Amino acid sequence: MRRGSIVRIAIYGVVAGILASLAAVLIPWLPTSASEEMDRIEFTFWFTTVICIGVFSVVAAAILYSVLNFRVQPEDESDGPPIHGHTGLEIVWTAIPAVLVTAISIVSAIVLAKNDDAGPNPLRIAVTAQQFAWRFEYPGDAKATSGELVLPVDRAAKLTLHSLDVIHSFWVPEFGQKSDAVPGIETTLVITPTRKGSYSLRCTELCGLGHATMRAPVRVVDQAEYEKFVTAAAGGGGADANSGETVFATAGCGGCHAFEPAGTDAEVGPNLNAIQPEGGKSLEDFVRESIVDPNAVITGGYQGDVMPNTYDKSLTDEQLDALVQYLVEGQQ
Ligand code: CUA
Repeated sequence: MRRGSIVRIAIYGVVAGILASLAAVLIPWLPTSASEEMDRIEFTFWFTTVICIGVFSVVAAAILYSVLNFRVQPEDESDGPPIHGHTGLEIVWTAIPAVLVTAISIVSAIVLAKNDDAGPNPLRIAVTAQQFAWRFEYPGDAKATSGELVLPVDRAAKLTLHSLDVIHSFWVPEFGQKSDAVPGIETTLVITPTRKGSYSLRCTELCGLGHATMRAPVRVVDQAEYEKFVTAAAGGGGADANSGETVFATAGCGGCHAFEPAGTDAEVGPNLNAIQPEGGKSLEDFVRESIVDPNAVITGGYQGDVMPNTYDKSLTDEQLDALVQYLVEGQQ
């Protein structure tokens, strides 16, 4: 091969590499990391991306050079020369990718293992998913429960995920990792937040009509603020764990229903601002029946079998009474 050809191939490769690098760096492909786990995932992505850009440059250079130099003339109908492989080249283009793929798998395995390791003393939070809401139970004697995930910064949190009905999936993009919540088994997810701020948890498993509304607010705060939050969520700071308002929030009613006193505006299920009792029942009886046996009366325009029929088991009598009162008193 002539010297000039090698220089041209090298120039093509460098240009292709620069273009691919610009696309990798200038476009914000990922959200800004807010956890140690996401930092490691980003490292894996960049490690792989650099390898890919290298391979892309070599392939692009070879293709460009071939297309520009070996183009046949329009009137040329002859066959090409009979080439029978090149053992040396084949060994090289098998061995190098094998080494690169092995390197990627080693880095990935290390990152996976580290991202699963919560350390000796993580904050253990139980996450319950159901159509179409998230509920979080915080450790401690106070048994704090909330529809909001609040995490102290720079401390590993180990989430155990449960589902009451179908498969859901836990994902906060800035934390990087995802994990399914599967009925009947317990899955876990480790998060070590590194940046204070507000984020959004979203369900990433198509779980029914309200899937798109199955979100929950996430806050990363300092340790003192976290402790204040847990105390408040446990009922020590004003909000009563068994108040109708709290039950509405933690049972996830707002994931599907609009109800002005709670500030929710979802449209998956009937609007609860002006409930019209059916079947000759009193408003209170109708509301109670609709919560514990949602399929008894299906409001026009809505489908049956969408709302979970498990609230008579998952709510205590006291909570159910409070929720019914809260809804009855909020009628317009
Ligand atoms: Cu839960 Cu989608």
